[in-house]
Amino acid sequence: MNSSASPVALDPHGLPRHVAIIMDGNGRWAKQRLLNRVKGHEKGAEAVRDTVKTCRELGIPCLTLYAFSTENWQRPSHEVEALMGLLKRFLETEYDNMTSNNIRLGVIGEIADLPSEVRVPLDRVMEGTRANDGLRLTLALSYGSRPEIVHMVRALAAAVQRGDLAPDEIHEATVSEHLYTRGLPDPDILIRTSGELRLSNFLLWQLAYTELFFTPTLWPDFNRDEFIGILRAFQNRERRFGTVDPA
Ligand code: FPP
Repeated sequence: MNSSASPVALDPHGLPRHVAIIMDGNGRWAKQRLLNRVKGHEKGAEAVRDTVKTCRELGIPCLTLYAFSTENWQRPSHEVEALMGLLKRFLETEYDNMTSNNIRLGVIGEIADLPSEVRVPLDRVMEGTRANDGLRLTLALSYGSRPEIVHMVRALAAAVQRGDLAPDEIHEATVSEHLYTRGLPDPDILIRTSGELRLSNFLLWQLAYTELFFTPTLWPDFNRDEFIGILRAFQNRERRFGTVDPA
């Protein structure tokens, strides 16, 4: 179906505040076409641009993309280098787009581990888009949920040791405020492409009540129509947050 001709039929009041995506399947997409894996990542970057555009057009406030995990450092060095180069180019080429479309860029992860070719444009775009109040686009880079939790525990332990915080002053909100995602609402929707049914160390604390959507589509093929279909399905799901239906 042609996306421009199809009615969106979404309830504008029932949109998620935050969509998180595990973008998986770039390598398989390339392999199916007898292409180098890097071509799959390049095509995946186009799907990133389209998905950002769809969020912006629909008025979804927050989008978080798992672009590089702490485990991804174990990939062959030429693939890691290609991914870093792709990120650098994405940051450079999308800066104007983010500025003109009121997008604010953020990042979560072990940022100090990134090469300066990525850190420098990343800092520049984050600084340059800080005042934007439209879509909050967050890239998870060198991200793992367990390292994030270790970082949070260390920060709270240090605060207790200094005498700035008593153990019984630690609540769920205290934990959330010390994660890299502080200031972001927890995701309403998690999408994972490529048919894998795992969370792969992504936002483990933050996904406690999130609606999960798994699609066999490989990330480079993920498009606006499928995204809107997921949003429609989300609007038809009943979220009870552990409670029961009101009688
Ligand atoms: C998983 O596919 C994808 C990644 C490890 C990288 C995600 C990166 C992009 C979508 C492009 C660059 C991102 C931005 C923000 C410009 P895979 O390689 O694990 O696929 P496979 O499981 O089929 O091998």
